[in-house]
Amino acid sequence: MALYQELFARFYDPLLHDFERSLFKKRKALLSNVKGTVLGVGEGTGVNFKFYPKEATIIAVEPSEPMLRRARKKDNNGNISYYNLGINDPELDSVINEKSIDTIVCTLVLCTIPDPEKALQNFKRWLKPDGRLIIMEHIHATKPINKSFQNLFNPVWKVFSEGCNLNRNTDLMIKKAGFEAIEEEYFKRTLRFHSGVFKLKEE
Ligand SMILES: C[S@@+](CC[C@H](N)C(=O)[O-])C[C@H]1O[C@@H](n2cnc3c(N)ncnc32)[C@H](O)[C@@H]1O
Repeated sequence: MALYQELFARFYDPLLHDFERSLFKKRKALLSNVKGTVLGVGEGTGVNFKFYPKEATIIAVEPSEPMLRRARKKDNNGNISYYNLGINDPELDSVINEKSIDTIVCTLVLCTIPDPEKALQNFKRWLKPDGRLIIMEHIHATKPINKSFQNLFNPVWKVFSEGCNLNRNTDLMIKKAGFEAIEEEYFKRTLRFHSGVFKLKEE
């Protein structure tokens, strides 16, 4: 397990290099204007770091130590604090106060978190009332044949991609959890993607 985690982290950037190039503009547009205290969920090898404004204060949460080690090397501004934890670990409540976060960033991570609904409920507690949730996630296909293939292939994919799921309807999950879109977009990069900026729905 530890060896696999190490290998996944070692090859994450090179394997995703071409794919990432196609996502560069999306990441930049979503992340360049984040403000205040930012919670980066599952920051992985720190692909997002170069897009964050240096005035922002970043809390980077990442359960894989080999990923986190690589992320630290991409920290150029010294504005990032690191937590080697999963987003639903109770220890995070001693790090993050309720209603204290301006922006929560989830890129390619709600596909992997074991209990994404719980994570979204935590986000609601931690966000300031005018806080923002930024999303860029691959989601389940719409065409029945692609959907069925993703369902079939998912158990194998999950093993080789450290728990990533091809068939989550994260877009629906976010709205069901009580967020509403300020802006959102669906697009295709091999997989179907959903991205956008969300706010808390008034209750
Ligand atoms: C596909 S990578 C994405 C990394 C980065 N966000 C990006 O955009 O490149 C998924 C990341 O989610 C992390 N992860 C897995 N379970 C998690 C959890 N419970 N809480 C937070 N992050 C988690 C993994 O360790 C991995 O680094």
